[in-house]
Amino acid sequence: MLRYALAVVAGLFLASTVTVVVADRNLDIPFPFNCSTKTLCSDLRIKLPNENEEYNAVYLGLTDGALNFNLSNKAGNELILFLGGIENNRFRVIVEEPDRHRYKLEHSLEKEPTTTPLTVDSVEDSAVTASDGNGNKAIVRLTPLSIEFYHNDVLESVFEGNRIIFQNTEDNQDFTFSVRFVDADRLLGLHEHAADLALKHTVDLRTDPYRLRNTDYGTTRYDLNSTESMYGSVPVIYGFGANTSGIFVHNAAEMFIDIDNNRKSAYFMVNGGTLDVFFLLGPSLKESVRQYIDLTGKPHLPQIWALGYHQCRWAYNTTEDVKDTIGNFDKYEFPLDVLWLDIEYTSERRWFTWNATSFPDPVDLLNWVDSQGHRKLVPISDPHIKIDLNYSIYTDLLNNSYFVNSPNGSAFESECWPGETSWIDYLNPGARDYYANLHLYSNFPSTPALGGFWNDMNEPTLFDNLYERSLPYDTLHYGNVKHRDVHNIYGLLQTLSTHQGLIARDEGKLRPFILSRSYFAGSQRYANKWSGDNWGYFEDLRYSVPMALTSNLVGVAFYGADIPGFFGTATEELLIKWYQIGIWLPFFRAHAALGSPRREPFRFPNETQVILRETIGLRYKHLPYWYTLFYEHTRTGDPIVRPLLYEYPEDKTGYDLTDELLIGSDILAASVYESNATSVSVYFPGKDQSWYQVTGDSPVVFESGNFSDVPVDLTFTPVFYRSGSIITRKPNVQRSTADIKDDPNELHVVPDKNGNATGRVYIDDFESFNYVNEKQYLYANLDYDSASKSVKVTSIDSDSDSSNFTLSVQTVYLYNKKDDGTYSVDKIDQTKDGVPLVDIDLSTHSLLL
Ligand code: NOJ
Repeated sequence: MLRYALAVVAGLFLASTVTVVVADRNLDIPFPFNCSTKTLCSDLRIKLPNENEEYNAVYLGLTDGALNFNLSNKAGNELILFLGGIENNRFRVIVEEPDRHRYKLEHSLEKEPTTTPLTVDSVEDSAVTASDGNGNKAIVRLTPLSIEFYHNDVLESVFEGNRIIFQNTEDNQDFTFSVRFVDADRLLGLHEHAADLALKHTVDLRTDPYRLRNTDYGTTRYDLNSTESMYGSVPVIYGFGANTSGIFVHNAAEMFIDIDNNRKSAYFMVNGGTLDVFFLLGPSLKESVRQYIDLTGKPHLPQIWALGYHQCRWAYNTTEDVKDTIGNFDKYEFPLDVLWLDIEYTSERRWFTWNATSFPDPVDLLNWVDSQGHRKLVPISDPHIKIDLNYSIYTDLLNNSYFVNSPNGSAFESECWPGETSWIDYLNPGARDYYANLHLYSNFPSTPALGGFWNDMNEPTLFDNLYERSLPYDTLHYGNVKHRDVHNIYGLLQTLSTHQGLIARDEGKLRPFILSRSYFAGSQRYANKWSGDNWGYFEDLRYSVPMALTSNLVGVAFYGADIPGFFGTATEELLIKWYQIGIWLPFFRAHAALGSPRREPFRFPNETQVILRETIGLRYKHLPYWYTLFYEHTRTGDPIVRPLLYEYPEDKTGYDLTDELLIGSDILAASVYESNATSVSVYFPGKDQSWYQVTGDSPVVFESGNFSDVPVDLTFTPVFYRSGSIITRKPNVQRSTADIKDDPNELHVVPDKNGNATGRVYIDDFESFNYVNEKQYLYANLDYDSASKSVKVTSIDSDSDSSNFTLSVQTVYLYNKKDDGTYSVDKIDQTKDGVPLVDIDLSTHSLLL
């Protein structure tokens, strides 16, 4: 893949309000690093099992329900292994040296997981068998060591002891281990990579192993279809198959992972920290995903405006620019919820300051933004701090030793957007509290119309290729922790602190909104994510779909990609196609790099505007469906967008089709990522069900189990409703989600072959935590019965308080399949004297609830 090393000096095209220009350092050093340039990978990758180094185990006994073993090898190394049970079909394996300190990760797990005491079933010369009483069993083979994990007597995964290496000198704490997924068809996971869903075979040495090391690419184009590292890291793998199981590697150091698709095994080479692995025994993908997210936590609901359309560019530079842009959205009748403020709103990139010339009265501006359909502004706030003795945030942090230090003990300094900077040490609780407080209205003049914050450059990034554009691994955090051991969790810690700040700012009443580029397992508790600096090419659009699907399988559900590619100038065709799929990803934001031509939807010719208006409108019309899915995600952790194999694990045809995505279980969207496409081949999953095409002019029904060539043109990307579903929609599109959230609804009833259809709908106050603290919400099943031609609404949680909310329905659309493969829709009015009925019965309007 061709790399585009652009000669763009950051700041070249800056608007006149900004004076800081920064150039990358050491550009002659190859970037990014890869397996051949990192000894972690180049040395350890080629170490094959060898009799001298493989470990044998000696069983020591059971302590507090966990098994303990001594491990030793002929080379004279000694280790200790703990094997514990975790509730809900999970085991945990920890391996440590008896006499060495290794960093133990904090902040990734939501809480200490509940253990299940193991019972030892048998102790033999060659093996120890233990079980948890819930159908899960581990057989520890002693010579050489290996641990087999069984669920209901089916062998699911094996921790392979013959590939354990521990290096433990002062400077080198690399370690390795390997896991095999016995029953797997495909290996999935290892977010974040610009790649397809199924992990590729890498052990042939032609492909680099997957790398997890949070990395910014600057103006270098990141590779697509690639195993190279990206901004985020979630070390989870699922062995998907007839019996699916998974692992979560609880470690935030850099790691390379070699995938052997013949054996279905993964060999981990890890740069430090503790060997601490959770085994998730499924036995389905759905259960494995839940078992993982239960460890690192489910997010709270976003406020509803976060599900609307976000318009960003680098940058909206002045108060007038902001007002003018929002004004044009209204003038040209495009909905909009959020306008973003990139780094130029500040005074010379000092975060938590406003540029006094271009944003002289931010509170007044925010009040104006609020008056325009309760819209929001979201500003950027990076973790590096300008070195400036007149900037009190800098001096406070310095005086309190709240920066990451060089090995010599002084605050580490390098370059980022403001010029010379230091980096906040979020591992330090005092630094986190200090940073959180900066978000208070008293510290940063603003109002709740400043909807949240954008934490960027938090891999963390600096402009020096010598350190591969991040903090050197020997820099030191609070407690003398080497950056090496916490590199991948740095961004999570920033968002944790931002989240704490927003909770305090709004006195716990409003749900915080934070977008983060860097991510680790557990970040979902605080922030959502986008895929960073993509490019305006069809290929980038294509990969945005599998990236969102993988991220959704590992708990990073609120994910999206910059529309229509951050760098470059997408053609108008690509821009349209990108919006058409972008509306079906959970996070829906357009963005543009510094210096790119303006490309808000209202700037295009009228024909293009018509298409974009219709497209963005579709997002808004499906708001109740999205909001319900987001809510269900907070309860279950289930992905919001799903690959076919998640919903249809038995349907092998769908396994590798990652250009199709399911939104929940009821909507299927097929991505079009070729120029001038006149048709797209779509696979319709499932058995005995139909898919109703709802975009374009043809009301066609497609039957499951088939590929069909679906005609397309520029005006739409094909989207289908599943038979058997009820989709709740909003009838009208207005300025913003605030304008339509309380409007009456439409129900789209798409009966299955027996004439039945079901759906769910969730409503609350759309902004506060009352849905958690007071259980104030309405969550209901919708059941259509063709015999009585009625939709029954049944509350799902009897202990919820729905007294403040009504499901008002204005129209029911009943889809009828015809013999010729098309369908018609009956529109059934649900208003009486112009007022929508609250409860629904298509035939009599009688009360059913
Ligand atoms: C890098 C981010 O990825 C991009 O979205 C942003 O516009 C620039 N930083 C400037 O803040």
